[in-house]
Amino acid sequence: MTESCATCRPERSKARLMPFGVHVVCGLPVVTRQRQKIVPMAFGDVVEIGFGSGLNLPHYDSSNVRHVIGVNPDDGLPQLGRRAIDRHEVSAELLVESAEAMSLPSQNADSVVVTYSLCSIPDVEAALGEARRILKPHGRLFFCEHGRSPSAHVAKWQDRLTPPWRAVAAGCHLNRDTGALLRDAGFALEQHDVFDLGLGTRILGTHHMGVATVR
Ligand SMILES: C[S@@+](CC[C@H](N)C(=O)[O-])C[C@H]1O[C@@H](n2cnc3c(N)ncnc32)[C@H](O)[C@@H]1O
Repeated sequence: MTESCATCRPERSKARLMPFGVHVVCGLPVVTRQRQKIVPMAFGDVVEIGFGSGLNLPHYDSSNVRHVIGVNPDDGLPQLGRRAIDRHEVSAELLVESAEAMSLPSQNADSVVVTYSLCSIPDVEAALGEARRILKPHGRLFFCEHGRSPSAHVAKWQDRLTPPWRAVAAGCHLNRDTGALLRDAGFALEQHDVFDLGLGTRILGTHHMGVATVR
């Protein structure tokens, strides 16, 4: 009965298409160039929040990284993530759960990596609280996110457009202020670069990249 349900079919196709769409967009060359700037800085035991399809794996420096644990809920992306783990040299595993409530021990990770995920994690404050909990006292959080523009005019449009954008873009917010979220979660920003990717729209192109430490 369920198999032939006409109203369920569009939902199933959406569930299949979404992971592939995210993989394609996140794999664009302009995005890959941003990963290359930040991911090689990770070291030791790494937890990657919002592992997605594993697009960061080729950018880890395998001589500095012992092991990567990718955390992602079961929304279709982990299937692609597993394939990436099988293909790449760096030692990695997938933990299928939400970043808001990780089963990982406290103060156990040298690095937390988060790229293009703080925009879509529903309770981003809880996820950053968890990131802080699992980091060793001298660990580092490496981030690269699109987010809130420093221009009040652009930010106003990001606020206006976020509700419809979220509905079509897998829960992605255009207007999250990465720096403020990190500071509010108890991080100090050791490095924080805010720049425009040059996509022709600062609404989506404003980038926040940097390194945070536990305060
Ligand atoms: C735009 S994709 C980015 C994927 C990957 N980080 C990258 O850079 O290609 C956003 C990711 O956040 C993940 N995500 C959404 N909610 C999450 C949550 N509560 N905890 C962890 N990851 C989540 C999604 O499943 C998706 O993999």
